[in-house]
Amino acid sequence: MRPPLGFGLGLRPVHYTAVLETAPAVDWFEVITENYLVGGGRPLHFLDAVRDRYPVVMHGVSLSIGSAAPLDLDYVDRVRRLAERCEPVWISDHLCWTGTDGANLHDLMPLPYTEEALAHVAGRIDEVQARLGRPLVVENVSSYVSYTHSVMSEWQFLAELARRTGCRLLLDVNNVYVSSRNHGFDAREFLDGVPVADVQQLHIAGHLDLGTHVIDTHDHPVRDEVWDLYAHAVRRFGNVSTLLERDDNIPPLAELVAELDQARAVAARSQREAA
Ligand SMILES: [Fe+2]
Repeated sequence: MRPPLGFGLGLRPVHYTAVLETAPAVDWFEVITENYLVGGGRPLHFLDAVRDRYPVVMHGVSLSIGSAAPLDLDYVDRVRRLAERCEPVWISDHLCWTGTDGANLHDLMPLPYTEEALAHVAGRIDEVQARLGRPLVVENVSSYVSYTHSVMSEWQFLAELARRTGCRLLLDVNNVYVSSRNHGFDAREFLDGVPVADVQQLHIAGHLDLGTHVIDTHDHPVRDEVWDLYAHAVRRFGNVSTLLERDDNIPPLAELVAELDQARAVAARSQREAA
């Protein structure tokens, strides 16, 4: 297992210049893979410049590892070529499907948690890992629907997937919280059900609370309920790489760096309590 990277930020194009000019106290950056699957130009110029200064991790949204449609091997090869260029510490994508029969839903849809789905996804992860030549890191999505034929919990599914394939897990603490509210499960039971050794990374982000349901908008600062759950995650998983995501209503870089300092403080307090 790789040593933890510390506290990172999702790199967004609006912050390219500020990152290079101010060299913020951020331990690492996570980049959206699809933004850099291009022949050249501005995105790759900035990716190279940021990579010269910080460790980088690649985070994809298009693998659709859970789909019944054939794997897009051309996409996987493009991801591999980008990885050869920027040498990310690891490569992640989501446990989801994004469409089938040529249609793209532009959303990260959850899977039914069945034996059949487990075998299907495990086989595809094996294939992707062989093609990338490295373990894949798989993230839990936030969800608004579930399947009546599921026979296990999401966390049991994730743990079994890691056991069968050797893939690593990216636990999005905000997604756990959002799904727990929408489906009525205990968010701490989710975290407690994931083997500590399988977790490579945590995500934290903001959401929109509509009372009856919660939407994973990534357009707010992290909310108190998610800080509490993050503290629980750090008590369980220890000093694991943490990444703050913000995708909409993006504030100046300094605000996100300050929010990242809040994560450092919450994690330090949790680790003191756990010691
Ligand atoms: Fe996430």
